[in-house]
Amino acid sequence: MTYAIVWASKGGNTEQVGKAIAQALTAANGQAVYAGSVPVDGSAEEQALLAADTIFAGSWTDKGDCDPALAALLAKLDGKRVFLFGTAGFGGDPAYFERILGNFKQHLPESAEIIGSAMCQGKMGPGIRKRYEAMLAEHPDDARAQAMIANFDAALAHPSEDDLAHIVAAAREALA
Ligand SMILES: Cc1cc2nc3c(=O)[nH]c(=O)nc-3n(C[C@H](O)[C@H](O)[C@H](O)COP(=O)(O)O)c2cc1C
Repeated sequence: MTYAIVWASKGGNTEQVGKAIAQALTAANGQAVYAGSVPVDGSAEEQALLAADTIFAGSWTDKGDCDPALAALLAKLDGKRVFLFGTAGFGGDPAYFERILGNFKQHLPESAEIIGSAMCQGKMGPGIRKRYEAMLAEHPDDARAQAMIANFDAALAHPSEDDLAHIVAAAREALA
């Protein structure tokens, strides 16, 4: 069995998850042929990745879906075994993660076999908190803005060690 791990990550959260998966898998899980960010279309790296039997593919959440670069790669995974992972700014609701992963899945060809998936919360950039703060400054009683700030602050601790352990366990289980 050969496998590849690939991620689209703007701020480093999803990269952290991808690297944790890469570190956790060993020769007993097969031969690693690629671990890195989404390779350039048509490159030798992409060819190496596409030769793997199993692909671990991850993305940050961009307006409810995966990064367009990862979406384009997912569309090429004909007949592959695929494990999907990701990070999202909003946490605490497993159904929310499932919805996002469901959107990622839509980019896969029907011939791809999904062997597992997992997601965790990931910290957001400081500019986003500033936007919420501005909303709150204008409307101090805005419960939505208050909840957004609370979520932003909760996200700062993620991906946590527990998040990484949970996703790594799911990845290992998918290969078992
Ligand atoms: C332009 C933009 C759009 C985003 N859209 C969403 C979204 O729809 N849902 C969500 O939960 N998080 C959203 N986020 C938050 C990121 O997905 C989250 O912080 C993620 O962990 C970033 O991962 P990265 O560090 O690997 O880039 C968005 C962030 C940005 C900058």
